[in-house]
Amino acid sequence: MPTINEILNTMEYGPAPESTKEAQAWLEQRGRKFGLFIDGAWTRGTLEQAGETFASTNPADGRELAQLTQANADDVDRAVQAARRAQPAWAAMGGPARARIMYAIARLMQKHARLFAVLETLDNGKTIRETRDADLPLVARHFYHHAGWAQLLDEEFPGHRAVGVVGQIVPWNFPLLMLAWKIAPAMAAGNTIVFKPAEFTPLTALLFAEICVQAGVPAGVVNIVTGDGRTGEAIVRHEGIDKLAFTGSTEVGRLIREATAGSGKKLSLELGGKSPYIVFEDADIDAAVEGLVDSIWFNQGQVCCAGSRLLVQESVEERFLKKLKARMDNLRLGSPLDKSMDIGALVDPIQRQRIHGLVEAARAEGCEVYQPSACEIPAEGSWFPPTLITGASTSAAVAQAEIFGPVLVAMSFRTPAEAVQLANNTVYGLAACVWSENISLALDVAPQIKAGVVWINTANQFDAACGFGGYKESGYGREGGREGMFEYLVPVSEDARPALPAIAKAAAAKPAASDPFAIDRTAKLYIGGKQARPDGAYSRAIHGADGTFLGEIGEGSRKDIRNAVEAAHKASGWTKATAHNRAQVLYYIAENLAARGKEFADRIAAQTGSKNAEKEVQASIERLFYWAAWADKYDGAAHQPPMHGITVALNEAVGVIGIVCPNENPLLGFISLVAPAIAVGNRVVAVPSEAHPLSATDLYQVFDTSDLPGGVVNIVTGSADELARTLASHSDIDAVWRHDGSAAGCAEVEKLSAGSLKRTWTGGGKGRDWFSTQQAAGRTVLAHATQVKNIWIPYGV
Ligand code: NAI
Repeated sequence: MPTINEILNTMEYGPAPESTKEAQAWLEQRGRKFGLFIDGAWTRGTLEQAGETFASTNPADGRELAQLTQANADDVDRAVQAARRAQPAWAAMGGPARARIMYAIARLMQKHARLFAVLETLDNGKTIRETRDADLPLVARHFYHHAGWAQLLDEEFPGHRAVGVVGQIVPWNFPLLMLAWKIAPAMAAGNTIVFKPAEFTPLTALLFAEICVQAGVPAGVVNIVTGDGRTGEAIVRHEGIDKLAFTGSTEVGRLIREATAGSGKKLSLELGGKSPYIVFEDADIDAAVEGLVDSIWFNQGQVCCAGSRLLVQESVEERFLKKLKARMDNLRLGSPLDKSMDIGALVDPIQRQRIHGLVEAARAEGCEVYQPSACEIPAEGSWFPPTLITGASTSAAVAQAEIFGPVLVAMSFRTPAEAVQLANNTVYGLAACVWSENISLALDVAPQIKAGVVWINTANQFDAACGFGGYKESGYGREGGREGMFEYLVPVSEDARPALPAIAKAAAAKPAASDPFAIDRTAKLYIGGKQARPDGAYSRAIHGADGTFLGEIGEGSRKDIRNAVEAAHKASGWTKATAHNRAQVLYYIAENLAARGKEFADRIAAQTGSKNAEKEVQASIERLFYWAAWADKYDGAAHQPPMHGITVALNEAVGVIGIVCPNENPLLGFISLVAPAIAVGNRVVAVPSEAHPLSATDLYQVFDTSDLPGGVVNIVTGSADELARTLASHSDIDAVWRHDGSAAGCAEVEKLSAGSLKRTWTGGGKGRDWFSTQQAAGRTVLAHATQVKNIWIPYGV
């Protein structure tokens, strides 16, 4: 049988251009000039009146397509006000009524699919083959699927409400698809929207605004403002926005995290990637080559989840690269409107320069750069040939930076363990591909890769039913699926939280009785399952509610946190342990705590003066049993996307979590946060109640006698502010939770978390009723403790 390359070599292509007549007529009818879509109507932006507009051009020939309005802060404010006015009625309309409107949108998108596809190709430079066969069908599917979620909202998301007004900012690589990913779930949940397309590719969003009018979307529900990063910044900083959803560069994602710190805005970030494409020696090599073409040359490689790092097993490397080069020689680059083109234009000359710079730097470093010699670059527009780089070191810029172009960097490995190690050698964690005919090997490797999506024997598959989003510096939050809906909902129990934490005022401290022979009552830190003296050799006195001296605790420092994080990383066996095992340990902790209940109640009463100390101990024991029960039940889902196969959604542990516990309820608060975190396999560095830390330090012996492996729970006492700061800036911590009622402290944690883009869960300045299962338990807590990985497993192909 001839190979695909042999077939391709014998084929001749004539031009097969798609007509642009309808799209050009659409632009002409609007005078090639667009205002902003606010409150259901086209308005002229304030700057447009003053003359500030910008052009959108066709990347394939550099010609201007239209002039757009650069929205300023006043325009954004008008859009937010319109969205705010529209939100109550939109939410009150109910899911089924919203579903009908969303179905109408989906149908209209299908009806005008060709116009949308051509307009997208003109504006973005991607091939018509892709806009027509990938972008548009996925967009319609997204609206249909989410219309379904709107229909089922009350039944499937009880106890939740819409967030409110959401700000959404998207990039230029999938302008309409990203619009659908953002707007569909937001609408379904009852939010109203201020949406900003990228400045390079605003046109399909403006056509979508017209579809909204036709579909009967009430005025103010969807507002579309155009402009560059300044418009984005105005959305990010607007106080009337309750949630921000951003897709784009990691650099801007970081800025947004910093700018929103302490604002209480919900935030989801879908950022860059440098995804590995792993080919084992037993893979179907021809299929893996074809998959790689899709993975790195789809959309000119301007894809956040592009398989831009080829990791191929040494034994098949030569054969694989030979076939790959032959396939590259057959890729056709040229007019994106030609239906038989594989590779279109890059979005803008600025991207071409960036990619060129990175490739030339690799060449200068001695890497080998392969580009098909027959690939002709058109004279006009911005283009880059398919490129393969070999001989790069693992730390080279081309191996680490997101190139965002048609450039593949290839490396080899010997063993599966080495493949996993190389795959995870990146700050990103968006996606990965694993190619092997050995299902046992593929399914063993997939969970070891730190990425939100793993495709087995396939690449670049997306579906509305399956969540998409990153680990590590690829961001957080998911789009699609049930988990994506939660990004646009808030539990109503959050509205019931007390305005302030319930902390009793302590009496003035009394001096400790001076008894030189008294036993030393200084509680040490608890690191790696052992009691440890604080590195700085400082301690602080702890007094009870009536001022009585109760003992001393170690004053933890930066170095102690570092040691605790190291111990937590060493305890990775806990994450791999079975959920059944983890549940048993939690039950055991509960039993051992129950056996010493009176002593713990006395300690709580002495520290806090609480009359409810016994109740708190009982609630803590109950909570341990509760989270033990959950340990083996929060077990993900199997989705059925439209392919022959399944997508398995795993709820994976986040990793190492730093937890700053509440001041009030020193035992229940600690257990309510630490127990769910470890139940699902995380390891923890906990900072107990700063005011009443002794309930946590008394737990050391309970842990020691309950088979809890050393390093799973580490406890560092001392200043909550200082220790939280260290946790939030530590690059080896995956998430930080802070719930001690310090608004400024929570804001600082969020700001510092931007460094390594760790996830945060903060309570702000409000209190929480730790006895309430609505406020302090349930799936919402588990969602903070886990991240969803979707593993795509086609079969029978
Ligand atoms: P970008 O992150 O600057 O732009 C994405 C969106 O954010 C655009 O709508 C832009 O107007 C907006 N924006 C820019 N600055 C902002 C700010 N300060 N506040 C709020 N919004 C802001 O991405 P850009 O410059 O278009 O591309 C640069 C690089 O970023 C690419 O080469 C690629 O490496 C990466 N990138 C990654 C994407 C992904 O999907 N992961 C998408 C686009 C770019």
